[in-house]
Amino acid sequence: MEIVKLVADLKSKISSYKSKGKSIGFVPTMGALHRGHLSLTKESVKNNDVTVVSIFVNPTQFNNPDDLKTYPRTITEDLDKLSAYQPDLIFIPEVEEIYPESDSRVFKFGHLDQVMEGKNRPGHFNGVAQVVSKLFNMVEPDNAYFGRKDFQQVAVIKQMVKDLHLSVSVVACPIIRETDGLAMSSRNLLLSLEERKNASKISETLFKARNLVPALSVIELRDWVIEEINKNPYLSVEYFEIVDDTKLLPIESWEDTNEKIGCITVQVGKVRLIDNVTF
Ligand code: PAJ
Repeated sequence: MEIVKLVADLKSKISSYKSKGKSIGFVPTMGALHRGHLSLTKESVKNNDVTVVSIFVNPTQFNNPDDLKTYPRTITEDLDKLSAYQPDLIFIPEVEEIYPESDSRVFKFGHLDQVMEGKNRPGHFNGVAQVVSKLFNMVEPDNAYFGRKDFQQVAVIKQMVKDLHLSVSVVACPIIRETDGLAMSSRNLLLSLEERKNASKISETLFKARNLVPALSVIELRDWVIEEINKNPYLSVEYFEIVDDTKLLPIESWEDTNEKIGCITVQVGKVRLIDNVTF
């Protein structure tokens, strides 16, 4: 496991792997690693000759300066956790390495970035596309691993790969959860003990909601989930939308043959948590 900080060093190592015909798997992260990130790393190590993990808290995807400031940074523990999985390269650049000049590119994804996280965090997906397109150019991966926890992010990245004619395959991996069901997230570290305890109500409600299909209509179920979670004084639902899995268009009826995903964002104190469930 080798740590690389400079883009030039990363590129020279990548071209050496490529010249030997090695396949490259890539796991982009912002650090504060947990078992969700590690599951992506494991999948990449299993299916590629070489695995690159990046740890970079990307400033351009934060629409809230406080969120960027308080985002957890645990690099020593991160490296320790990664060492158990033996990825080949860990890329940990400084902001100036990735953005020697400010990035003025504007990505547009139509409906995909106008709903849910796109609507509630203006500029977020533009920042994600800026950094991931740069990282894809640097790492030139054959396969890139993303978590379904950030379902909309997967849809946006897949669209970006199509739009830019990139040859990387985007692999979407399952959500890894804590034992009480809460989706693992670096932001869980920011919850108080009480908030953490109450946050499990989010996934608990999503799982219960599955059992109410088709007894409740799509709209009734949506309202039920929102009301149920909002009953808890620690939790406040920002949105809960039931959409199809590729275009993220609203689902009107359970008869719809697309894969149906219920995506939720809940404010827990100062922390925003996201989760989703397949119906
Ligand atoms: P970050 O939040 O660190 O997440 C890195 C990857 O881990 C993402 O693909 C995310 O979906 C996945 N992940 C997070 N929690 C997970 C869980 N509980 N189960 C499975 N996978 C999980 O997402 C980002 O960083 C950034 O936007 C990034 C893509 C790195 C661009 O800056």
